Formats: sequence, C-alpha cells, structure tokens
Amino acid sequence: MRIEDLQVAFSTEEGPVEALDGVELTIHQGTFHGLIGETGCGKSVTGQTIMGLLDNNARIKKGRIMYREQDLLKLSSRQMERQIRGNEIAMIFQDPGSSLNPLFTIKNQIEEAIKMYRPVPRERREGLILEALQQVKLPDARNLMHRYPHQLSGGMKQRVMIAMMLACNPRLLIADEPTTALDVSIQAQFIKVLKDLKDNLDLTILYITHDLAVISELCDYVSVMYAGRIVENLSMYDLFRDPCHPYTEKLVNSVLGVSTRLDQLEEIPGSVPRLINPPPGCRFHPRCSEVLPVCSQEVPLLKEVKGLHSVACHRR
Ligand SMILES: Nc1ncnc2c1ncn2[C@@H]1O[C@H](COP(=O)(O)OP(=O)(O)OP(=O)(O)O)[C@@H](O)[C@H]1O
Ligand code: SF4
Ligand SMILES: [Mg+2]
Repeated sequence: MRIEDLQVAFSTEEGPVEALDGVELTIHQGTFHGLIGETGCGKSVTGQTIMGLLDNNARIKKGRIMYREQDLLKLSSRQMERQIRGNEIAMIFQDPGSSLNPLFTIKNQIEEAIKMYRPVPRERREGLILEALQQVKLPDARNLMHRYPHQLSGGMKQRVMIAMMLACNPRLLIADEPTTALDVSIQAQFIKVLKDLKDNLDLTILYITHDLAVISELCDYVSVMYAGRIVENLSMYDLFRDPCHPYTEKLVNSVLGVSTRLDQLEEIPGSVPRLINPPPGCRFHPRCSEVLPVCSQEVPLLKEVKGLHSVACHRR
C-alpha cells in the first residue's frame, strides 16, 4: 500500500482541524510496519482513512491511497464494504469487548464474518473457525467456540478478534493500539501470538501504538508521525541506532531501556500543537533544539537518506 500526500481535515465549531497534512507512507507486503508518535498526531485518523471509516465531519482534501493498483479513495462506500473491508483489509481496535456482540457465541460471530467476507461452502466454515482459533493459540477451541464473550477474559477476547480477522483471510491488518486495554502479562502473550503468525503466515500489519517496546518486538519498519505528518520512515534497526529526525531521536531517548539510567532519560519539551492552527513550516519547530530560521517558513519534505530510510528535516 502506498499513501501519497494524504490530507484530511475535520470541521469543528472552533474551525477546521488539519489532522493529516500530506501523509506519505508505504507498507510492503509481508512486513510488520509500525506507526508511532505522541497522542493526537494522527495515527488513528490514518488507519480510519485507509478503512473508509472516518467520522462524518471529516473531509479528505487531497491524496491517494494506492492498494494493489487501485486508489481506495476513489471507491464508493459500497465498493469499500464489498471489496475491501474485511476480506482485503481488516482492523483490530483497542477495546475487543466493544467489538464482539455479547448476544452471540464466538462461533456464530466468526461464522458471520466468514459468510460476509469469504465465499466458501457452508461445510468448510467450521473447519476455518477452528483453524483460526488454533492459530491464535486459544486452548480447547472446539469447546471455546460455543462460549459467549462475557465468559472469556480480556486477553482471550482480543485473540478471538484476531481469529475473526484471520478466518476472513485479509491481506493487510491494521491494529490500532490493540494492547493498551490489556494488562502486561496478557500483552506479552498477545505479542507472542502475533510473532508466531508473522513467522507462519504471509501477513502484512500496520501496527499503531505509542509503545516503542512493543514496536521493537514486532516490526520490521517504522514510520514516525508528528502533528499530522510523517517525519521519518526507517527500519527497526535504524530506529534505535541511527534515527535522523530530531523528533525521532527525542522519542527514542525518552524510552526506558534495560540499560538506561533514569538521569539519562530525555523529556520532549512542550506538547503536540493543536491542529486548528498548527505552527507554519516544520510543525515541530517550536519544540526543536536544532531549529533554523528556515524551519518556521518552509515545510521540510521527505527525502531519502539511504534505501528505505527517509526523513523530513531541513538539517538533514
Ligand atoms: N471527529 C473528529 N473531529 C475533530 N477532530 C478530530 C476528530 N477525530 C480526530 N480528530 C483530531 O485529529 C487529530 C488526530 O487524532 P488521532 O485520533 O488520529 O490521534 P492519535 O495519533 O491516534 O492519538 P492517540 O495516540 O491518542 O490515539 C487530533 O487532533 C484529534 O483531536
Ligand atoms: S526542520 Fe528544523 S525545526 Fe524541524 S526538526 Fe528539522 S531542524 Fe528541527
Ligand atoms: Mg489513536
């Protein structure tokens, strides 16, 4: 998938919120791609735009989302529903509880999803349901599928959500903060399940999170977002060893590693600007310690550092 110059604004009583301002992002097939950045920088809006699930007050001002040679932004909502959502691209949300229907068993719900998105003969469906539940390492899947969501723990529900996606066989999965509602040990199990899937299936994931530790466990590539723009695209290796953008450097240095002392941790001064009236030029300039006069006047464009590593900064 290639996102080009994507601009999205929301109309609000206070004025337009310029949530995405020229997002450029490429996700390669078979890779796990992380999307990171502080709260409010546009990560979820990026995921919602890909899925065609933006709020009613949103307007897509410009851009293309090229997915297997077609521009998703040119499809009608009916085409998105029939051809893309669920069977090509699926999304896992933060709170699994609210995505499962309490009135139906796990089997009913996965079966409904298969009926909608995967044209297979009726007698094959149960096999697919079992296979998906086993892929996410849910024990005793044969009995478990007859239970209701309230009979499962948060971690199990989260895995059922992934099983539901897998049963529909999407090519691209968008996971928006899928572990924030889970406690730490369940988070670890969830990440292990995703890692196993990565090793065994040809799955592509866009993984949205604040959590650099999770990203470092799972992802091959990372895009760093700041105030509605991608400021750096780089490999996981480069994220910790060779970040170029001052914001990426600060983000990495603000994380507690095994060998970091507390006094080595850096805090990023200030906060993400409001997007109703964002700073001109580089949106990071009010917080940047390396700011130049040009930074408040010209928007820095992404340029290649090497291979798949690109950065948007006047200094680099
Ligand atoms: N329906 C809406 N109306 C107005 N503004 C919105 C709407 N949805 C999102 N926004 C704004 O768009 C910007 C980006 O929001 P988004 O939810 O993508 O942030 P995020 O990076 O996912 O943050 P978080 O890490 O907290 O989930 C924010 O300024 C947010 O307030
Ligand atoms: S463009 Fe300027 S303000 Fe923005 S990150 Fe680079 S040096 Fe800092
Ligand atoms: Mg979000």
